[in-house]
Amino acid sequence: KEDERQQMRNALDLAAKLYHYVLTSTEFGKRARRYVQERRILPETVKEFQIGYAPDSYEFLLSFMKKRGFDEELLEKAGLIASRETGSKRYFDRFRDRVMFPIHDSQGRVIGFGGRLIGDMGPKYLNSPETSLFHKGHHLFNLHRARSPIRKEQQAILFEGTIDVIAAWQAGIQTVIATLGTALTEEQARLIKRNTDTVIICYDADQAGQSAALKALDLLKNQGCTVKVAQMPAGLDPDDYIRRYGGEAFKEEILAGALPYTSFKLESLKKVYNLQDEDQRMKYLTEAIDVITDLPLAIEQDHYLRRLAEEFRLSLDALKEEQRKWKIRKK
Ligand code: CTP
Ligand code: MN
Ligand code: MN
Ligand code: MN
Ligand code: MN
Repeated sequence: KEDERQQMRNALDLAAKLYHYVLTSTEFGKRARRYVQERRILPETVKEFQIGYAPDSYEFLLSFMKKRGFDEELLEKAGLIASRETGSKRYFDRFRDRVMFPIHDSQGRVIGFGGRLIGDMGPKYLNSPETSLFHKGHHLFNLHRARSPIRKEQQAILFEGTIDVIAAWQAGIQTVIATLGTALTEEQARLIKRNTDTVIICYDADQAGQSAALKALDLLKNQGCTVKVAQMPAGLDPDDYIRRYGGEAFKEEILAGALPYTSFKLESLKKVYNLQDEDQRMKYLTEAIDVITDLPLAIEQDHYLRRLAEEFRLSLDALKEEQRKWKIRKK
């Protein structure tokens, strides 16, 4: 069993090298080279992240690896190839026509890949399946590189996408990590907390990103982290933003303006209601008081109640009276 795991690691490591070689140094890699260039990923970044390309073929990796002595079952266990049962079993490359991003464990060993499609045949992103080495919910993209910057700066920036991480890293922001195409898990939150108490969540501005941010916020808060949520302008994700405005602007405009826990919750609640409508405005206020009353510190509660009173031109006394009623209801 240990031997098998070692062989899987060898296969994954070799596949990463092969894909990287294809992208950087072969005719097959031409389109991929143009693609990474269009996305403003510099050659030194391609090298640092060992970015590669899986050619548009069903047996490119398979035949290479077989010649190197790896058998098909092992390659399938490593998540590199897949199989189809039609009478006899047929194996084929899992990743085809994709720019390949190796995913590492905390010790920097390759455990899987994320693949970004270049053409339009199939889903935009494809990751390695769950294997005995690769558990999406247990790992974070780039943590092995970001760990020591995160510890030093006592701050982590959490993105949705691998390319967001790469763009930020390239712009000199090194405390960057991402989940692997799934919602943040409790395990990942714990992993982050082991390295720092302070996290900035920086997800896409779309609906999916914002509701994922709300969930990640609570998970990290429950681990005891101080969490802020950065607000991206509509239609831009961190990679788009950095490409357009640069890393300094990203730090000064986006990261520095990240909202603390309660402010973000109140802001995202606001988007649920039409505040021009009186009934809906009242519903918002009721829910906002709910959020505020859950806060552990009286001074925090007071602070946010005052802000709410100012914002909606209400008396603080009225809000406190609502809060009192709310507490009775909740008992
Ligand atoms: N992702 C994934 N599997 C999916 C969809 C997304 O693993 N089926 C991951 C990828 O790492 C991706 C990230 O989630 O980078 C964010 O997804 P999304 O915002 O949809 O990616 P885009 O920013 O649209 O991708 P790109 O910039 O490459 O066009
Ligand atoms: Mn698991
Ligand atoms: Mn997204
Ligand atoms: Mn993007
Ligand atoms: Mn995105």
